Amino acid sequence: MCGIIGYTGKKQAKQIILEGLAALEYRGYDSAGLCVRGTDNKFNTVKCGGRVSELAAAADMVDLTGTCGIGHTRWATHGGPTKENAHPHTSESLILVHNGIIDNCLDLRRMLTEEGYVFLSETDTEAVAHLLDREYRACGDPAEAIFRTIRLLNGSFALAIMFKDRPGEIWATRRDNPLIVASAEDGSYLASDIPALLHHSRDICRPEEGVAVCVRADSITVTTPDGKSAPAKLERIDWNVGTADKEGFAHFMLKEIHEQPDAVRRCASHRVNAAGLPDFTVDGIDPSFWTSFDSIAIISCGSATHAGLVGRYLIESLAGIPVTVNTASEYRYDPPATVGHTLALAISQSGETADTLAGLRLAKSNGLLSAAIINVFGSAIAREADHVMYTNAGPEIAVATTKGYSTQVAILALMAAQIAYARGKMTAEAAAEYCRGLVNDVPAAISAIIARRDEIKALSAKIYNNSDLYFIGRGPDCPAGTECSLKMKEISYIHSEAYAAGELKHGTLSLIEQNIPVIALATDKRYYDKMTGNIREVRARGGYVLLACEPDFAHPEEFSDDSFILPAVPAVFSPLVSVVFAQILAYEAALIRGCDVDHPRNLAKSVTVE
Ligand code: G6P
Repeated sequence: MCGIIGYTGKKQAKQIILEGLAALEYRGYDSAGLCVRGTDNKFNTVKCGGRVSELAAAADMVDLTGTCGIGHTRWATHGGPTKENAHPHTSESLILVHNGIIDNCLDLRRMLTEEGYVFLSETDTEAVAHLLDREYRACGDPAEAIFRTIRLLNGSFALAIMFKDRPGEIWATRRDNPLIVASAEDGSYLASDIPALLHHSRDICRPEEGVAVCVRADSITVTTPDGKSAPAKLERIDWNVGTADKEGFAHFMLKEIHEQPDAVRRCASHRVNAAGLPDFTVDGIDPSFWTSFDSIAIISCGSATHAGLVGRYLIESLAGIPVTVNTASEYRYDPPATVGHTLALAISQSGETADTLAGLRLAKSNGLLSAAIINVFGSAIAREADHVMYTNAGPEIAVATTKGYSTQVAILALMAAQIAYARGKMTAEAAAEYCRGLVNDVPAAISAIIARRDEIKALSAKIYNNSDLYFIGRGPDCPAGTECSLKMKEISYIHSEAYAAGELKHGTLSLIEQNIPVIALATDKRYYDKMTGNIREVRARGGYVLLACEPDFAHPEEFSDDSFILPAVPAVFSPLVSVVFAQILAYEAALIRGCDVDHPRNLAKSVTVE
């Protein structure tokens, strides 16, 4: 992944680059660097292992006067997050930053070493720098050198390059990774995403794959591999990014947890018509669409897959059509067999996860109809899917998703009712009642849980000191548990697994010993008896049971060490409610453990590498 930025124009580049990198930090934050071309035409470079804030401090110690520069914030792939491995990387004639991953870098390193190039880092990027240097010195033309170089690269990249003998210019190219260039009064910009540029310019261009872009203060030129050059075609962006401010909350994650009632209500009510029925015509989707496929193949990664698991439960139980939930990194190479007309449904908060995008492309090339549930407007997956349903959750900054996930589930819940209603599996009255529940009762239940943060904090104090814990549940609590468990491990670093409660005894029960926490979710009365049996099995082995159940669960105190009574909602909606309890539980446990809640170690929000 990584974030790249560049500026050339009338203003000083340093501050623009540092601000841009701060906006791109969600893409990676383990090391960072920048280079500004000095007035003497020298490359002045600062790098550090660590955050952009540390880079900014280091940059203050150096003279970085100059109006043309590039910057990078890194999520390490090749080589640890050290100063040496931080970008930019140099070769004799150039300096560059890279977002992506070069699959054949070992072969390239070997070849270039034999040719006399000396490597100073462990990165794949340095091989690109030397290869491009070799080609530039051979042909003397930046665009031609870029084309020659990228023909030799396997993998994905967005590159921003400054050549020593081309002052005022930044060259760029991309394959499978995002790159935006923008034109403004004061100069020209490039970055990995639009929001990082929007306060500078609304006139942007998304270069095609494999072209060479030359960015100058007063022009942006695109050269295609056949050698033809033309000014970049700019499009006007008319949408705004929401606020990326903590607004008084201690962390973005906490703010985003609090935004969930409104986000879910907004996302669902937007798709309920005057008759109170599900209606996706606001997304440009005709009602006939919902009867045009026989099954759904969900393609996604991480929490979006967990939303997909809840979606499968809802769609299969309400509408009775088969749904498969496919991890995108597997689907892109081994898609399962399909029967009849299958809708490929990509789910992605960022809209640019590389595996999800590749899975969508494969599904389309296999002739599948496609749709996507996306948060980030205009992102790659949104542009490539046949239909897009935006979650409109607003910018999600914390790496661990909260409102992004909830709004994905809200759309899937409405889709389930829409498909069921369109196929005569649900009456208009039942569908309207369902929509009322989703628009009114679910947001109210989420708010009620958020208001009980102190109670959840006290419960987190009972589990935070463990290295392992388990979530168990049945029915809707099974897919819900997967996301609850992921929240716990990604931000508190407590190892956590989610199990179908009946499955625990088939192996994992051997791990239950004195005081190991098991968080039992019980929100569907059809399974209460079975759940009490499974809970007993845990307690008989000394496990500590925290029961999160609905008010009609009789005598929770008899079956648990501690309990948390969730607000009552119909069982089909409970995954939208129980997850909020788990989000806050994980958040509080992470705080006690001193974790960096918004920036968990080793992770990034937007994963644009395989
Ligand atoms: C990363 C994030 C996860 C997210 C996943 C998929 O791993 O850390 O929180 O669920 O990517 O992201 P997407 O943007 O496709 O939903």
